[in-house]
Amino acid sequence: MNHPARETGAPAREKPIGVFDSGIGGLTVVRALRELLPNETIFYLGDTARVPYGGKSAATVERYSLEIAALLLEENCKTIVVACNTASALALPKLEETAPVPVIGVIQPGAEAAVAATRNRHIGVIGTRATIKSGAYERAILALDPAVRVSARACPLFVPLIEEGWLESEITDRVVRQYLDPLVRDGIDTLVLGCTHYPLLREAIGRYLGDAVQLVDSAQNCATAVRQLLDAEDLRAASVTAGELSVALTDPPDAFLDVARAALRLEIGTVQLRQVIHPAKS
Ligand code: DGL
Repeated sequence: MNHPARETGAPAREKPIGVFDSGIGGLTVVRALRELLPNETIFYLGDTARVPYGGKSAATVERYSLEIAALLLEENCKTIVVACNTASALALPKLEETAPVPVIGVIQPGAEAAVAATRNRHIGVIGTRATIKSGAYERAILALDPAVRVSARACPLFVPLIEEGWLESEITDRVVRQYLDPLVRDGIDTLVLGCTHYPLLREAIGRYLGDAVQLVDSAQNCATAVRQLLDAEDLRAASVTAGELSVALTDPPDAFLDVARAALRLEIGTVQLRQVIHPAKS
């Protein structure tokens, strides 16, 4: 979308990148952004009061996403990164239509990386029920290459296993096998981790799949797309100071924040609390 009132230039460049997720999982995107864009200040907002989004209806996910984006705009963010596959799948068009700043999601970058990676043109996609039901990855992949075959599967047990911190566990390995076996037998050579939690299961998934299937991490590809966007819009922060990271949640953190902090080796200071503004005006 065109943003006629959008600021560019030095003051806008020094504003934070706003990143949001349904909860804590989007910190995988923050981790990738910190590595790729160390001078950028990031304001992360996790909607922990209402997580998970993955089993909710499209209308609810869209409403929640607009409300969370409104909070990021209050923080004066120069761009909004939808670090949640479910929100990207269901709310991106509405966010792009209504936000006065550029909005970027995880689906398009993931689809592009998958199409670039596949050799046999058979891509697997895993995600929450809502993401898979939306068909957003299939649409994005087929728009890039109509000859690609997509096998998609919802893996709803992955999120609770990850939040429990069972990243290395026999039970998790069995669940991974149960979900992924049909995709492997179907012949995929590339698998999109279409949920922001899933990079935390990369080891377990990689162990099961071996070298035959390439993993596409939506977090890393999203960070690369954010860098391209900032360059294209002249919004890249000056490279003299290290960017800061602020983390806010809509409900006080639980043990999963510690799991994510340790797994991602992220320096997170005091977690702030934010209240959702009702209703979202669109
Ligand atoms: N953040 C969600 C996603 O990437 C997973 C957790 C949820 O269901 O809210 O799809």
